[in-house]
Amino acid sequence: MCGIIGYVGPRDALGLLVEGLRRMEYRGYDSAGVSVVSRDGALRVAKKAGRLANLEQEIKVGNHHLVGTTGIGHTRWATHGGPTDRNAHPHLDATGTLAVIHNGIIENFAELRAELEHAGIELVSETDTEVVSHLLGRAYRGETGETAGDLEASMAAVARRLEGAFTLVAAHASEPDLLVAARRNSPLVIGVGDGEMFLASDVSAFIEFTREAVELGQDQLVVITPDGYRVSGFSGGEADARPFTVTWNLAAAEKGGHLTFMDKEIAEQPTALADTLRGHFDGTRVVLDEQRLGEDELRTIDKVFVVACGSAYHSGLVAKYAIEHWTRLPVEVELASEFRYRDPVLDRDTLVVAVSQSGETADTLEAVRHARRQRARVLAVCNTNGSQIPRESDAVLYTHAGPEIGVASTKAFLAQIAANLLVGLALAQARGTKFSDEVAREFEALERVPAAVAETLTRMDAVRALGQEIADSKAVLFLGRHVGYPVALEGALKLKELAYMHAEGFAAGELKHGPIALIEKGLPVVVVTPSPSAQPLLHSKILSNIREIQARGARTIVIGEEGDKTIAPFADFFVELPALPSLLQPLVATVPLQVLAAEIARTRGYDIDKPRNLAKSVTVE
Ligand code: M6R
Repeated sequence: MCGIIGYVGPRDALGLLVEGLRRMEYRGYDSAGVSVVSRDGALRVAKKAGRLANLEQEIKVGNHHLVGTTGIGHTRWATHGGPTDRNAHPHLDATGTLAVIHNGIIENFAELRAELEHAGIELVSETDTEVVSHLLGRAYRGETGETAGDLEASMAAVARRLEGAFTLVAAHASEPDLLVAARRNSPLVIGVGDGEMFLASDVSAFIEFTREAVELGQDQLVVITPDGYRVSGFSGGEADARPFTVTWNLAAAEKGGHLTFMDKEIAEQPTALADTLRGHFDGTRVVLDEQRLGEDELRTIDKVFVVACGSAYHSGLVAKYAIEHWTRLPVEVELASEFRYRDPVLDRDTLVVAVSQSGETADTLEAVRHARRQRARVLAVCNTNGSQIPRESDAVLYTHAGPEIGVASTKAFLAQIAANLLVGLALAQARGTKFSDEVAREFEALERVPAAVAETLTRMDAVRALGQEIADSKAVLFLGRHVGYPVALEGALKLKELAYMHAEGFAAGELKHGPIALIEKGLPVVVVTPSPSAQPLLHSKILSNIREIQARGARTIVIGEEGDKTIAPFADFFVELPALPSLLQPLVATVPLQVLAAEIARTRGYDIDKPRNLAKSVTVE
């Protein structure tokens, strides 16, 4: 995915564009670029491979004269063509008077490129985006139809020809107070200011200036000028887009005194959980945010799939234990990227729970579409109000984790677990497998979790010291049983993505079926252990697993319940967690694993907010 920003208004555009890109750098950081339209009818561009800092340096030394009050900016996560200066956006048309930025993938770009080459156009980059800038330039010049001098009509004509996912924004030298954008399958929001307008992939880019926003719908086009905006469909005619007010402020999108966004987001977890629970229980019943499904329909559900990717998938694995236990419904948890390709058995009595922080992950979105085509009901658990996945779902439960900017998911993951548990309770109450007072008791237990997470956070100094100590290990293994198993998977994912280390998560019982061969002297092995009083059988089994690995020389790092005297003697390092009901333990057990991964990565000298090769959400399949 990439980050896009556009501005028209009275302010100097350049500083605002660069600042907006800084806030969206989590969306891609392979290269960045800006284009500004000046009052004298010139369109100027600066772009550079690498982080935004490289672009800023280029602007400083490059004499680009980026002076004007209309402009566009882009931060890229490369798909077509490597992260080079040439492939950086914006891309120009043949006359150099029109600039385009793009998020997504144009699937029919090869055929369009061939057409352009046939018409004698020379393309200078390897991107799919440059194809659009030339198509648009030709349309605007009137070379391909009746759209000469009309940027909006030109964009509509081009958008109709494109296949795939795209948000496109175009600026033209002859239109100093106007930008045109088109959207299909990629996000775009309009920021509505007073005498100024913004376009962005994410509201964080313009939150400093306005909290009034409009979410552009599928296959919609928008023209912005300082005085307003006009939305239409690709085939013309007015279209409706959804206005909303952003509920958080600039401080939420900044580091607030922390070294990194990830540190801040780890610290915010108690609040993220409390905010996610708030308003979702009315004293007797769990309340969803958007409910286009009747209770009768929920009652007839006979099978649940949770579909998601990465950390969101791990949150679904936790939910499986709770939903099956509370509802007696079979629950399958599927990687969204696999779901629609293996022909899952779905019908109108199947509930598909799509979990996504961003609400724009392409694999999850396509899984949702597949499920709906099979007439299954879809319930979205999402952190981004109005994003595509909730828009296409029958019911929505929003997590209220606030903006998550660090690429590695932390507070959103914990909020997803909490929200998934609420979905389980909603199903249990609809099916009558739990009475209201039982649902209330489960909810009360959930309400105690934010304090337990806050308490866990106060115990992290020793974990940070451990992280520094083991930072040069060649690998770390993670083991868990029951709900500790998804926690182990999440711990391993955090370490892989942040510290670029070999890390594997296993169900502890599987150890002796192969992975134990990996154990060697000094290898750090993190073991997530259940409560000795709540799950005595599992506890004794995992104790045996710990002894097996310790006997083979592993360094045992045990995450367990405070006061667990039986396990402590077998732990080379023991992280004591506040006691919680078994199904809620992942909400505290994940915290030390986040802190450990962050500290190992930091000690190895890596940028924990922007790990290499990654982007915050993946809008391509
Ligand atoms: O926005 P989503 O929740 O759909 O994103 C899913 C994954 O891409 C995401 O959780 C990813 O695995 C994170 N980088 C993990 O830290």
